[in-house]
Amino acid sequence: MSDLEALRGRIVEATAAATSPDMLEIVRVEALGKKGTVTGLLKELGRIPAEERRERGQAINALKEEVSAAIDARKAELEAAALDARLAAESVDVTLPARPQPDGRLHPISQTMDEIVAIFGEMGFAIAEGPDIEDDFHNFTALNIPPEHPARQMHDTFYLRAKDVGNRMVLRTHTSPVQIRAMQALIKGDGPDGLPLRIIAPGRTYRCDSDMTHTPMFHQVEGLIVDRTTHMGHLKGCLIDFCRAYFEVPDVPVRFRPSHFPFTEPSAEVDIGCSREGGELRIGDGDDWLEILGCGMVHPNVLAACGIDRDIYQGFAFGMGIERIAMLKYGIPDLRTFFDADLRWLKHYGFVPLEVPTLIRGLTP
Ligand code: DAH
Repeated sequence: MSDLEALRGRIVEATAAATSPDMLEIVRVEALGKKGTVTGLLKELGRIPAEERRERGQAINALKEEVSAAIDARKAELEAAALDARLAAESVDVTLPARPQPDGRLHPISQTMDEIVAIFGEMGFAIAEGPDIEDDFHNFTALNIPPEHPARQMHDTFYLRAKDVGNRMVLRTHTSPVQIRAMQALIKGDGPDGLPLRIIAPGRTYRCDSDMTHTPMFHQVEGLIVDRTTHMGHLKGCLIDFCRAYFEVPDVPVRFRPSHFPFTEPSAEVDIGCSREGGELRIGDGDDWLEILGCGMVHPNVLAACGIDRDIYQGFAFGMGIERIAMLKYGIPDLRTFFDADLRWLKHYGFVPLEVPTLIRGLTP
């Protein structure tokens, strides 16, 4: 029997020494395959004397089972190790940057909106939204622009086909209808929690106009405060602070020039000081002025149209074009390039997406 012991020792040793499934398979075939050593012993059984055969047969079968179990166990071990190695090699570090180089850029419109939101957010304004497809009431009538009012002509409105001409749908010509929606929501009690109502509404606006300085779609941001005591002084302070923060020029001159809008009384347009030397625009010094926004005290008719008591409540509103103030701040000379979707332009004028503007860290990276 010592030959069986020796064989067992060799096979068990070879099994332990196999370091891959392929090596182990060779060990298995050499022992248990058709021409394997153990198989060979079984085949020889017929040739040994009958009185020895039984005992010898049992011993070889025991050897066969033992060897086969050892090989199976080693196989499981090797497979588990291989899986562990693969998991370790293929592990993903989710904290690494998405790509070796962050190629995407934020469009200057998005960046400018984020900056505006950061500034007014710090002042306590919440963001409000309204639909791009508006009805005539919200876009015009409630804003003290009744049918036949000349201001309607100035808006170059895109009208949608309508059955009811009295309240036909339009692509909103400004973000001012969001004022109406915010005040209506306040009255219904499902708006921002009560007074003061203090919102800004950035978004898309549309006018049927297209040339060097106009595109059929553009962006505005609207602002609105309503309470019992807010007055023109607050309006001025708020917008002067905005101009200084947005243009990042602490002493930028700001001028309020009397103007007219149907939805505010009194109304003003705001200019900032600048110089234009040799075609180069510099914001903050010089004796030239640039118009950047419209504003005023909310007209009592507008409050009344939203069901707000015009004898108790008052507030101010403002609206500005986002493309325009983006062009001024970032020196973008041509409005139409905003909408060309030219990657070279976006690479040049765009912003790194994760540099979120805040007043503390600075608006621009
Ligand atoms: N809605 C005006 C426009 O599109 C801008 C504007 C002016 C908005 C004065 C206002 C405001 O809220 O008070 O030209």
